[in-house]
Amino acid sequence: MVKDDEQIPINNHKHKKMFIGVVWSCAGELKFLLYALLFLCSIITVFQFIPSSVWDIRDCAAVPPPSSIVELPAPSAPRIENKKLDDVVLDGVVIKRNFNGYGSAAYNFILMSAYRGGGDTFAVIGLSSKPLHLFARPTYVCEWVPHHATENINNKNISVAGYKILPDWGYGRVYTVVVVNCTFPYPVGEDGSGGQLLVHASTSGGGDADFNISDTIEALVEAPGSFHASQLDTPPKYEYLYCGSPLYGDLSPQRVREWIAYHVNLFGEKSHFVIHDAGGVHRDVMEVLRPWIEKGYVTLQDIKEQERFDGYYHNQFLVVNDCLHRYRFDAKWMFFFDVDEFIYVPKDTTIKNVTDSLLGYTQFSIEQRTMSNKLCYLDDDPGKIYRKWGIEKMVYRDIKRGIRRDRKYAVQPRNVFATGVHMSQNLKGKTMHKLDGKITYYHYHGTISERREPCRQLVNTTEKNVDGTPYVVDTTMREVAEAVKRFELTTIGPVLLKTHQ
Ligand SMILES: *[C@@H]1O[C@H](CO)[C@@H](O)[C@H](O)[C@H]1NC(C)=O
Ligand SMILES: *[C@@H]1O[C@H](CO)[C@@H](O)[C@H](O)[C@H]1NC(C)=O
Ligand SMILES: *[C@@H]1O[C@H](CO)[C@@H](O)[C@H](O)[C@H]1NC(C)=O
Ligand SMILES: *[C@@H]1O[C@H](CO)[C@@H](O)[C@H](O)[C@H]1NC(C)=O
Ligand SMILES: *[C@@H]1O[C@H](CO)[C@@H](O)[C@H](O)[C@H]1NC(C)=O
Repeated sequence: MVKDDEQIPINNHKHKKMFIGVVWSCAGELKFLLYALLFLCSIITVFQFIPSSVWDIRDCAAVPPPSSIVELPAPSAPRIENKKLDDVVLDGVVIKRNFNGYGSAAYNFILMSAYRGGGDTFAVIGLSSKPLHLFARPTYVCEWVPHHATENINNKNISVAGYKILPDWGYGRVYTVVVVNCTFPYPVGEDGSGGQLLVHASTSGGGDADFNISDTIEALVEAPGSFHASQLDTPPKYEYLYCGSPLYGDLSPQRVREWIAYHVNLFGEKSHFVIHDAGGVHRDVMEVLRPWIEKGYVTLQDIKEQERFDGYYHNQFLVVNDCLHRYRFDAKWMFFFDVDEFIYVPKDTTIKNVTDSLLGYTQFSIEQRTMSNKLCYLDDDPGKIYRKWGIEKMVYRDIKRGIRRDRKYAVQPRNVFATGVHMSQNLKGKTMHKLDGKITYYHYHGTISERREPCRQLVNTTEKNVDGTPYVVDTTMREVAEAVKRFELTTIGPVLLKTHQ
């Protein structure tokens, strides 16, 4: 629930209008006048603590473009008390019905994180009531409060309109994801003086047209000395960083083992993997990740708390946007795909060949090769097939034509302001979609979410038709499996050899 002491109720025209209306038609509705007076008095009681500047809301009604300075309303005042209003009879014939609201069902804003994107710019990442955004126009004002604010021009509070990005394509549920871009007209706290980033989130009449309720969020606090502009100029630590979507359910440790070994091998020493645990990293999956965490390749983020807030797919869009901004300066390229997907570059090339050829692009998308998650290739001893890796035995590729298949993507994160699941739509620079097999990904849909043998049907032909979908054997991934197994053994030793499905 919103905290009472953080509300900024603003006077509104409707109450005034109602009162004037009563005076004009004071034909005899004394009872109503008394009610109106009573109501007005209670409002005045509440508002007497607010400086008069608040009363003129026209001054701050228009949202200025980003970077122009905004006047903030006066500091917080207590919320108007909920006094139950009864129905009243007007002119002796009309029954004026009243509506009494209690509580609020979705938060105005749920803060996940806030990060600097430069000396003068920040990204604030969170969730907000979806109907509020769909049917109303909530606004955000960003305020930088220096550690020791003075009236000195270089060291005073400054407010700008925040630019809101809704990156989840309308997928949200009770909550939708909001990235608030706060860009000030000049660098703030850049000299290491420290400060605080506040975001004032206002409903602007959505929810209750009578009120513009503002909640003040302390998005970021920088202790003096903790930030210097030079920190953002250092070359990125990693060549490749993987931002994973939330993991949940009873995941197969063996599939996770294959995925992580395969991708550390593919992306190489200067890579890092950020895994988000929404409940899927149970004990056996943790055992598989642990050696890679110890080697410094994996960071595990526990995001189980977000389950309290009903968004799309365990708040996938929230998590990837947090990951983007959190690691934006740590990696040259950032990849977004899932743990049942395997990135592939042809044998005679490396991932670096591909990304080096795409330096002129901020984003490129990766085509899918869809694999059957049921058919397994039986071309040798059937007794041994259960000991093979998934990528060795699930070799039937769906070659149905004319199907739109999802893509995954990679970006150079310094040019990206918000991100999605299949691509980013908030970036500067070019996007490349035609890579003609230079890089693809193999998708083994659903194979990771079950802790059992994935093979449902053993097939001994190189082609197979299942319910009108043609499959052909594609042994590309099988051919790299041996090298990946050797890589795992030499990198982390034999600790995972006994991993189960
Ligand atoms: C906010 O948007 C501006 C302009 O679009 C951009 O230059 C800046 O990098 C963005 N900030 C962040 C933190 O993404
Ligand atoms: C700056 O803003 C903070 C927080 O809103 C407030 O406490 C402080 O008095 C302001 N300082 C000045 C100099 O306006
Ligand atoms: C609500 O208040 C905020 C913060 O003062 C302001 O930016 C916004 O324009 C207001 N909205 C309306 C509709 O008055
Ligand atoms: C790939 O990169 C390596 C060195 O990183 C280089 O020797 C090789 O020629 C490149 N191959 C292609 C096809 O660009
Ligand atoms: C392939 O499988 C079919 C039925 O599953 C079987 O009848 C056939 O003998 C098998 N062929 C070979 C060469 O194993």
